[in-house]
Amino acid sequence: MIKKCLFPAAGYGTRFLPATKAIPKEMLPILTKPLLQYGVEEAESASLEHMVIVTGRGKRAIEDHFDISYELEHQIKGSSKEHYLTDIREMMGKCTFSYTRQTQMKGLGHAILCGEHIVGDEPFAVILADDLCDNEDGKSVLAQMTTLYEKYQCSIVAIEEVPQEDTNKYGVIAGEFIEDNLVRVNNMVEKPAPQDAPSNLAIIGRYILTPDIFEILKDTKPGKGGEIQITDALLEQAKQGKVLAYKFRGKRFDCGSVDGFVEATNYFYNK
Ligand code: G1P
Repeated sequence: MIKKCLFPAAGYGTRFLPATKAIPKEMLPILTKPLLQYGVEEAESASLEHMVIVTGRGKRAIEDHFDISYELEHQIKGSSKEHYLTDIREMMGKCTFSYTRQTQMKGLGHAILCGEHIVGDEPFAVILADDLCDNEDGKSVLAQMTTLYEKYQCSIVAIEEVPQEDTNKYGVIAGEFIEDNLVRVNNMVEKPAPQDAPSNLAIIGRYILTPDIFEILKDTKPGKGGEIQITDALLEQAKQGKVLAYKFRGKRFDCGSVDGFVEATNYFYNK
């Protein structure tokens, strides 16, 4: 059973400056809820109860958000506004939160490695909160993936088809379909140019990783952009046939870009 979910949350969010000068990008709200809370709720919907958040300097608002705010809660107690906090209180009652810091920006693979001492020797999930997902049939993307994990017991990445010209924004996979929506991965490349991409199947920010990934990450050399890439570490597992890529059911918004952020805002507002 997977119990822990790691959230890399140390990045600067430069695409949202000046909004992210003093506010972590993970705390930017879609309507009234910060992006990271959507991610934590998704993890909880997949029965994960231990959230491991890899933060960085200037990110203390994240810890305060998943805590009690005595003064505020005392003020609104018994008022018509109290219900605004019901959901997050319930969620906090079900989950525990651990924090660690990534002190140097050395890439997503490095951020995940920073969580090793909390995750330990067990399979775990990773959610990139700026990929906001919504399910259409009541089962979140991560819940779909944990169900698959029970059957296959190996690393799994979520994928979707993207226009060929966008492959340079994603990790891209190739492999053989073993079910309608499931690929046994035999190649993966971080942000390939469109002409070099092995397919147009892009990894989105949902992963299930087996704990041997940590040892592989320790030996992974800096790749694209001089950063330690999780895609490169996963390729080592894929060479042993131990990575699946899953075409998930649902919608995904790239809230790391202003366009995707606006699209998500409109979508959730209309919903
Ligand atoms: C990261 C990963 C990339 C993946 C993407 C999904 O890139 O490195 O493989 O496709 O997340 O959002 P980033 O968007 O952090 O540059």
